[in-house]
Amino acid sequence: MTAPHPLEPHIFVIFGATGDLTSRKLMPALYHLVEDSSADVYVLGVATSALDDADFRALTREALDDAGLDGTDAWRDDRVHFQTVGRDEGYSALRERIEAIEQAHGLPGNRVFYLALPPPVFPIAITRLGEAGLASSQGWTRLVVEKPFGRDLKSARALNQLAHTHFSEDQIYRIDHYLGKETVQNLLVFRFANPIFEGSWNRDRIERVEITVAESLDIGSRGGYYERSGAVRDMVQSHLTQVFTLVAMESPTSIRADSVRAEKVKVLQSIAPLGVDDVVFGQYTRGTIDGAEIPAYRALEGVDPASTTPTYAAVRLFVNNWRWQGVPFVLRTAKALPRRTTQVVVTFRPPPVCLFHGVGDDCFDQSDVLTLTMQPDEGFSLQIEVKEPGESGGIRRVPLHFEYGDEFGEIAEAYETLLRDVAEGDQTHFVRSDWVEESWRVYAPILDGDLPVYPYPAGTWGPDEATNLLGHPAKNWGTK
Ligand code: BG6
Repeated sequence: MTAPHPLEPHIFVIFGATGDLTSRKLMPALYHLVEDSSADVYVLGVATSALDDADFRALTREALDDAGLDGTDAWRDDRVHFQTVGRDEGYSALRERIEAIEQAHGLPGNRVFYLALPPPVFPIAITRLGEAGLASSQGWTRLVVEKPFGRDLKSARALNQLAHTHFSEDQIYRIDHYLGKETVQNLLVFRFANPIFEGSWNRDRIERVEITVAESLDIGSRGGYYERSGAVRDMVQSHLTQVFTLVAMESPTSIRADSVRAEKVKVLQSIAPLGVDDVVFGQYTRGTIDGAEIPAYRALEGVDPASTTPTYAAVRLFVNNWRWQGVPFVLRTAKALPRRTTQVVVTFRPPPVCLFHGVGDDCFDQSDVLTLTMQPDEGFSLQIEVKEPGESGGIRRVPLHFEYGDEFGEIAEAYETLLRDVAEGDQTHFVRSDWVEESWRVYAPILDGDLPVYPYPAGTWGPDEATNLLGHPAKNWGTK
């Protein structure tokens, strides 16, 4: 693999520095950037807590230890600083602190502001940064915002407008960590560097596409958050729809950020309005996963005992364009399923004439199936039919198989990849304002409607009602 090139020196300011995301994801990712790319990065943690540099350095050390990262010469404690900033005050002091750190380390004024904050606090933080004159500097200034970006079309629009009052779109990096996964990024290469697939990537050859993000994790202690969000807001509108637009988009004119992002938006603009028959919701009840007892979602702390928040969502989308008209794309995600897997399964049409009927599978089962697995065993597999040796005349399905790990060894964590992109000013794998709005528009009819929510025991593949969406049992989706 080619060695990463050095990044421009910058200060990385994290709002929400004492939170879980900072310790579990951001600090290990920053550590890797410094260690693997010799990036001259200084971190300024910001939170409302009254900590000092020493306290925050100790927290950081703990986080790196937990991630199994030892620290060498490149990652030094003096890269890490802390500044207390109130919800609504302390921004002038923050500005002075940033300038002091830049001066002390000879930094050119390149700044990243990362909002690892609860969504209700985004507007105030963005406004105060702008008012304090922190939206621009002598170098570059970039704002990174975590998901969810809004909770519906109206709130997303309002947040976009507010952000654009202080920052320009090319400064804003709306993060969706799925776009940092190597295998999600590989979708572009897979499709547009391999004409063999691209030539078949249309309604003439493809019968259906299933995109599954199945999690064996249950909601556990996140009841308070999840109760206000549910499967569509937490996963479908963002992660699954990102994967879907990469699968369905037309070829971009180049791999520059705006060409790629423009094509993704067009897919969303072509989606037929969702009807009630296109959606199946479920919520897990008590069950067992890997031998462990899982309490019902409704029994969790922070959850209404009569809650109708879906922990399972299957949504069927139709793209009304020349390439895809009539081909169902089913997006499915759920918590508390039997196992974790993220897959795109593309089922090709069966042979038009059933020459081998009666000697093996029937013609329906002679469809070739391409499975792109994003986790846990990243790679792909193309199931094709071959003749069994000998006189039996039988036909057997065999896989042509590729696994990332076999070829490339360990691959980088999504956050590391994305933080590198931020430092390089590459927005290709970040969410543009119009994508967010179009995506909320697509799901508007099912966000707060009065749709049935079917129970399914934890540790099963979800409600049988979902069978109707594709016409074959839900347990077979995305698990081939
Ligand atoms: C997060 C969701 O954005 O993504 C979680 O809020 C979910 O509910 C997580 O578990 C899944 O991410 P990954 O990378 O583990 O598939």
